[in-house]
Amino acid sequence: MNYRLILIGIVSMLLFAANSHAAVRGSDHDLSAGGTAQATTSATTEVCVFCHTPHGSNTAVSAPLWNKASPATAYTRYSDLGTATLDGSEVTVGSVSLACLSCHDGTQAMDVVVNAPGSGGWTAAGAELDAVAISAMANTGGAPIPMLGTDLRNDHPISIAYAGGGCGVGVDPCTPSTGATADTDFNDAQHATINGNSQWWIDVASFDSTGDGIRDATGTADTREKSDMILYTRDFTGVDGPSVECGSCHDPHEDSARPVSFLRIANTNSDVCLACHIK
Ligand code: HEC
Ligand code: HEC
Ligand code: HEC
Ligand code: HEC
Repeated sequence: MNYRLILIGIVSMLLFAANSHAAVRGSDHDLSAGGTAQATTSATTEVCVFCHTPHGSNTAVSAPLWNKASPATAYTRYSDLGTATLDGSEVTVGSVSLACLSCHDGTQAMDVVVNAPGSGGWTAAGAELDAVAISAMANTGGAPIPMLGTDLRNDHPISIAYAGGGCGVGVDPCTPSTGATADTDFNDAQHATINGNSQWWIDVASFDSTGDGIRDATGTADTREKSDMILYTRDFTGVDGPSVECGSCHDPHEDSARPVSFLRIANTNSDVCLACHIK
C-alpha cells in the first residue's frame, strides 16, 4: 500500500474541509440576486461588485479595488469616552475600517457603488445599483448591531496603536513582551517588509476552523495568513506603526458556521481577545 499517497489524500481532504468554509458567496456579505443572506430582488448576480471593481476604484479608501464611495462622516471615536486606561494613540478613523464603515455606519445604502456592472456605469460619488429593487438593503442606521453608527465610543477601539505604541519601524521587531518599548499586556507581533511597506500581524498558531470549540487547523508560524490577527500600517505622528482596525479581527470573506460570521478565528474561550491581550 502506498502510504504516501494515502497521507497526501488525507492532507488534501483536510485542507479542502478547512477551505470549504471560507466563502463570501451565500454569506451575509452576498448582496447579489439569489444571495441567501438578503431576501431581496437584487439588481445583479455579481457578488464582489458591492465592494470591489476591477477598474476605476476609489483610492481614497485604502482597501483593495474599493467600489464604494467614502463615508463622508465625522466619527465620535473611542478615545472620546475618556477611559483612564487607554495608552495608545488613536489616529483618525481610516484604513480598512473606512471600507467596513461605508456600509456599517448606517450613512449610505448598501448598494451604493462607484462602478456599476457593465459598460459606462462609473460615477465618482457612487450611485445606488437599484434604489427600488434593493430597498430592503436600505441602511437601518442607528441601531448598535450590526449598524455601528457613527458614534464609535461603544465599539472596541480602532485606528489605535498596537500595544500602546512603541512598535514602529524604528523599533523592529515588535516585542512588547520584553517591555523594552511597549505595553507588556500585549503579545508580540510579527513584522515583514513587503514592497517597501512595513506590515505587522499577530501569529495565531492554531485555530478552530468550524467554531465547534476544537482547534483543528494549524497556521504556519511566522507566515501572514487570514487566520492571523492582521495589524494595519498607520502613520503615528510621522512614524509608521501597527494599528488595530476592523480587519484585525474580521475577514469580510470568511463566513463559516461560527456564532458570528466574518471573524478571523472563532472567539471560543475568548481566543480572539487573547490573541492580542495578555489577560
Ligand atoms: C462586503 C464587502 C466585500 C465583498 C462582497 C468582497 N470583498 Fe474582497 N475585500 C473586502 C475588504 C474590506 C477587503 C480588505 C480586507 C483586508 O484589508 O484585510 C477585501 C480584500 C480582498 C482581497 C485582498 C485580500 C485578501 O483577502 O485576499 C481580494 C483578493 C478580494 N477581496 C477579493 C474578493 C472577491 C473575488 C470577491 C467576490 C467573490 C470579494 N472580494 C467580495 C470586502 C469585500
Ligand atoms: C457592501 C456593504 C458591506 C460592507 C462594505 C461590509 N459589510 Fe458587513 N455586513 C453587511 C450586511 C448587509 C450584513 C448583514 C446585516 C444583517 O444581516 O442585518 C453584514 C454583516 C456583518 C457582520 C455580522 C455577521 C453575523 O454573523 O452576524 C459582521 C461581523 C460584518 N458584517 C463585518 C464587516 C466588516 C469587518 C467589514 C469590513 C472589513 C464589513 N462588514 C463590510 C454589509 C457590508
Ligand atoms: C478587537 C476585535 C474587533 C474589532 C477591532 C472589531 N470587531 Fe466587530 N466583532 C468582534 C467580535 C469578537 C464580534 C462578535 C461579538 C459577539 O459574539 O457578539 C464582533 C461582531 C461584529 C458585528 C456583528 C454583531 C452582531 O452581534 O451581530 C459587526 C457588524 C461587526 N463586528 C463589525 C465591525 C466593524 C465594522 C468594525 C470596525 C469599525 C469592527 N467590527 C471591529 C471583534 C472586533
Ligand atoms: C488585534 C489586537 C486586539 C484584539 C484581537 C483585541 N484587542 Fe482589545 N485592544 C487592543 C488594543 C491595541 C487596545 C488599545 C490599548 C491601549 O492603547 O491602552 C485595546 C483595548 C482594549 C480595551 C481597553 C480600552 C481602554 O479604554 O483602556 C478593552 C477592554 C479591550 N481591548 C477588550 C478586548 C476584548 C474583549 C477583545 C475580544 C473581543 C479584544 N479586546 C480584542 C488590541 C486588541
